[in-house]
Amino acid sequence: MWSRALRSNLKLSKSEACIFFKNKIRGASTCVEGEPEGPVVKTDIPGPKSKQLLQELGSLQQVGTIQLFANYDKSIGNYLVDADDNILLDTYTQISSLPLGYNHPELLKVFNDQHNMKCLINRPALGVFPGEDWPKRLNGILSEISPKLPNITTMMCGSCSNENAFKNIFIAYQRKKRGDVDFSEEEKSSCVLNQPPGAPKLSIMSFKNAFHGRTLGSLSTTHSKYIHKIDIPSFDWPIATFPQYKYPLEDNQRENEEQDKKCLSEVEELFEKYEKKGIPVAGIIVEPIQSEGGDNEASPQFFQQLQKIAKKNNAYLLIDEVQTGGGCTGKFWCHEHFNLETPPDIVTFSKKMQLGGYFHTAEMTPRQPARVFNTWMGDPGKLIILQTVLRVIKEQKLLDNVLHTGTLLKIGLLELEKEFCYLLNSTRGRGTFLAVNATDSKLRDEILTKLKAKGIQSGGCGSNSVRLRPALIFQEHHANIFLDKFRQVLKEIN
Ligand SMILES: Cc1ncc(COP(=O)(O)O)c(C=O)c1O
Repeated sequence: MWSRALRSNLKLSKSEACIFFKNKIRGASTCVEGEPEGPVVKTDIPGPKSKQLLQELGSLQQVGTIQLFANYDKSIGNYLVDADDNILLDTYTQISSLPLGYNHPELLKVFNDQHNMKCLINRPALGVFPGEDWPKRLNGILSEISPKLPNITTMMCGSCSNENAFKNIFIAYQRKKRGDVDFSEEEKSSCVLNQPPGAPKLSIMSFKNAFHGRTLGSLSTTHSKYIHKIDIPSFDWPIATFPQYKYPLEDNQRENEEQDKKCLSEVEELFEKYEKKGIPVAGIIVEPIQSEGGDNEASPQFFQQLQKIAKKNNAYLLIDEVQTGGGCTGKFWCHEHFNLETPPDIVTFSKKMQLGGYFHTAEMTPRQPARVFNTWMGDPGKLIILQTVLRVIKEQKLLDNVLHTGTLLKIGLLELEKEFCYLLNSTRGRGTFLAVNATDSKLRDEILTKLKAKGIQSGGCGSNSVRLRPALIFQEHHANIFLDKFRQVLKEIN
């Protein structure tokens, strides 16, 4: 009875529920040996040593975003140790980018291997002088984790992955229009002066509250906070509304479906509007869960329809999995939850993948060299780390662990939401990629500060959400510590 209720409450499929209960019976053996039993807070955070370092660094650069200085020698597993020897349970993992936590024993071994070390220190310009093992390594990545896309382009970070993916979209869009003929002399001479027809007026559609990075092109598709954008010129590109759901989902089905419909019809209108304006939409970029913008979800049906609209308008669909990719939603790619008719045209990645880049269709590959290019085009050292990460994910069945821990965390958050209904609402998310809203942003910030004082490193997103971004090795006992501390904080605020 309990299991059926739990399954329907959390919308687990039968096989997911099976994994959950199997793990429950098996019990938690720890993923990383040598972790402390729990957080230990000895000073204010930042403590005296962090404050001194902050002053030192502050004389060299802007330091307003720095929370503390870390001791990466002492940090281990899910625990971040700071310069003042405070031990924090990390549910934020370097802005969601540490798949195996700190100092995972398998990662510590990677560069003991001389060949790997030589790949690291002789950093190649991959677009010109790749190492002889590069094709084999990329093939390995493609066959293991590609979201059914045949090609891969590697890059440096999330922003530049999106930025270069936009270029691939524009190149493919123009090729389709021009046909497989050579560029005209007029195109060649006009593009170097930023003029059409060589530099055509084209656009990428994005969504309100989206975050796709901070480089100039990707910033035109980022809309989460003014501070990212103020004073920076941007392209006149269309911005559609992303669904804003009411929770719990099962009690608000009709309104949420209305949200989907309204937003999708706006997407269609924007296609028309920008066509008329002479800036046709060549592609759409979307996050499977809007992350920095507030962990806003949309239904699988929304994404299925969005893909249909893109195809109908001859535009390409780019799914930005920079934050959602790498297993934290319980599937390797979050969009695999959506049952899309075909794979998206491009899937960008970075963060937990260590390496930036994107998977794409063959159509996205430019026919001429040097069109999507930079000096490093990624980093073989990071790919070597990723290979080990993928092996550990498989060997330790970490996607099952994410589902198991995520289920417990979600149950715990829903219980807290019930107990403190005047402080919290709208628990949501997949796997351990979870969030809950505080009633306002001041309260959210107070929660984060108090959690820190109790030894929990957490993060916020949007205006009033607490977001969870633990490593894939975050287990049942870590979840219990987090929920216990969270409850203590809410009781104190109460
Ligand atoms: C969805 C998404 N796309 C792109 C980016 C940009 O990645 P980076 O900070 O590596 O440039 C981020 C960063 O948080 C992100 O969450």
